[in-house]
Amino acid sequence: MIEITYLGHSAVFFKTDAVRLVVDPFLEGNPQAALSPSTLDVDVIVVTHGHSDHIGDTVPIAKRTGALVIAPFELAHYLEKKGCRVHPMHIGGRREFGWGKIKLTAALHGSAVIEENGQIVYTGNPCGVILTLEGKNLYHAGDTGLTYEMELIGRMHPIDVAFLPIGDNYTMGPADAAEAVRLLNPRCVVPIHYNTWEVIEQNPESFSNQVTGNTRVEILKPGGKLTI
Ligand code: NI
Ligand code: MN
Repeated sequence: MIEITYLGHSAVFFKTDAVRLVVDPFLEGNPQAALSPSTLDVDVIVVTHGHSDHIGDTVPIAKRTGALVIAPFELAHYLEKKGCRVHPMHIGGRREFGWGKIKLTAALHGSAVIEENGQIVYTGNPCGVILTLEGKNLYHAGDTGLTYEMELIGRMHPIDVAFLPIGDNYTMGPADAAEAVRLLNPRCVVPIHYNTWEVIEQNPESFSNQVTGNTRVEILKPGGKLTI
């Protein structure tokens, strides 16, 4: 059994008997955050790209818990310098970790850290991630525009639950995300990366109304859970 908790924005927490894993734990400063970073206990953190709303509280959580941080190579190098224990990967690569498998996928976006002094640190290509836990494939798209890659992802790794951004402006909006669902053909889709700020305000119903086919749409409020 996999217990999934939506923590707000792009942060999603997964719990099985073997692992507690979070993707993109942006909690401090996230107006939608479902909990405080000081109370999130995890074994693994996956970070999709270098933007602050995705790295979020990775460094303090990793330092406090000793969690392994999995990220694209350049971003992993940056996070290692900040004191994290890391495992670098990159687009197209898959690895068995014992508690499950991770594969990084392409995302159509950018990736850089903007330091407090304004210096921009390039953190490689942005990614999505396919988590395989207990034989189920969970796809977190990270931040991305609509891309045909999604058809390949769904064909090669039939997706049980997809987490897709619908906020528009920086990523897919509702119509493009509904098209992504047609390409991916997941059993279930959860919209993410919306309503955190005015610029990505969306009614999730406008996404679910455009989803066609057999995919179930699960709209989770921050703190909302889904068990598969
Ligand atoms: Ni981003
Ligand atoms: Mn983002």
